Amino acid sequence: MQKSSAEKVRKFLLERSLLDKNLRVKRTESHVVFPLSREPSSEDLQTLKEIADVSFVVENFEKVRIGPRSIKEVLAGKIPEDALAEVRRSFDIIGDIAVIEVPQEVMRYGEEIGRAIMRVHKNVRAVFAKVGPVDTEFRVRKLIHIAGDKRTTTIHREHGCLFYVDVANVYFSPRLSTEHLRVASQVSDNEVVIDMFTGVGPFAILIAKRTASTVFAIDKNPHAIECLRRNIELNKLKGEVIPLLGDARDIVPSRLRGKATRVIMNLPLYAHQFIDVACIGLRSEGGIVHFYTITGGQDPKGEAVEILRKGVERSGRILEEILSTRVVREYAPRKWQVVVDGRIR
Ligand SMILES: C[S@@+](CC[C@H](N)C(=O)[O-])C[C@H]1O[C@@H](n2cnc3c(N)ncnc32)[C@H](O)[C@@H]1O
Repeated sequence: MQKSSAEKVRKFLLERSLLDKNLRVKRTESHVVFPLSREPSSEDLQTLKEIADVSFVVENFEKVRIGPRSIKEVLAGKIPEDALAEVRRSFDIIGDIAVIEVPQEVMRYGEEIGRAIMRVHKNVRAVFAKVGPVDTEFRVRKLIHIAGDKRTTTIHREHGCLFYVDVANVYFSPRLSTEHLRVASQVSDNEVVIDMFTGVGPFAILIAKRTASTVFAIDKNPHAIECLRRNIELNKLKGEVIPLLGDARDIVPSRLRGKATRVIMNLPLYAHQFIDVACIGLRSEGGIVHFYTITGGQDPKGEAVEILRKGVERSGRILEEILSTRVVREYAPRKWQVVVDGRIR
């Protein structure tokens, strides 16, 4: 079948367990050939024909080399079972660096855990363990090197942008990737955006990559602003990103009063304390805020809207319209990180 429809067909074959994952897919200049695990039913055939211009051929396929699929699989038998049970299944990969939470009681197996990650993820060159509490100011945690290179800087790719990140000194989460794109895709050319808590600039850079807009990108962590400056250099931007080092509470009222069509407030634990600052930054005719917060209870989205509404009204403005609300992720048991996109007048 032709390459342009290959992804849709692959998804369909996977859904119906029709794809033989032990064999390697063949790709030519213009076509893709998928190995099948069984004969498709007449219903499958009909759907396949609707999705793409498919035809069937008899081919020999190469076998896929199967390595371990999870770090638990690699570690089984190498560390005691009670320690294995404590090893986290999930971890972040930022560029070629993996960062994993390692509970104190299994820290003595840190090196084995790090090596296991590198065995499963061949692109990972360095592994660090997160230890201790999150620094409340810059949102970073102390890292301990457990395997591979002793290097904390890397280049991470996201949505066609490159991000220089120093994992030891700045906040960056690949888990926010969908959020970065969701917000950036709402921005139009000629907008003026204030990204109040920019970090290394994943919202700001992506917005300026896609649109001819201006983004004032604020952070009070000097390391984050240093990474952001590099990221402005690393990416070919249509728009402009202006890095500003300092506290958003000082910078917005003194330099950005009434300038923005849109304000991004990605500091979930404390953003509610900055709603007045966001209102100061917005143009007098109004604009949009992307407000991140943490809520619990029966109605996490409704609660987030109410926090925003009260803060906006206290600032003498009106929350005119809720454009969307979304649970970004579970933050802790029965606590959710929620984002509200609201139009403010
Ligand atoms: C949760 S991180 C978000 C980073 C970024 N938006 C992202 O998606 O990766 C919050 C950032 O806000 C910064 N920060 C915290 N308080 C601040 C303040 N009062 N003014 C400016 N930046 C602040 C921290 O240093 C941190 O980099």
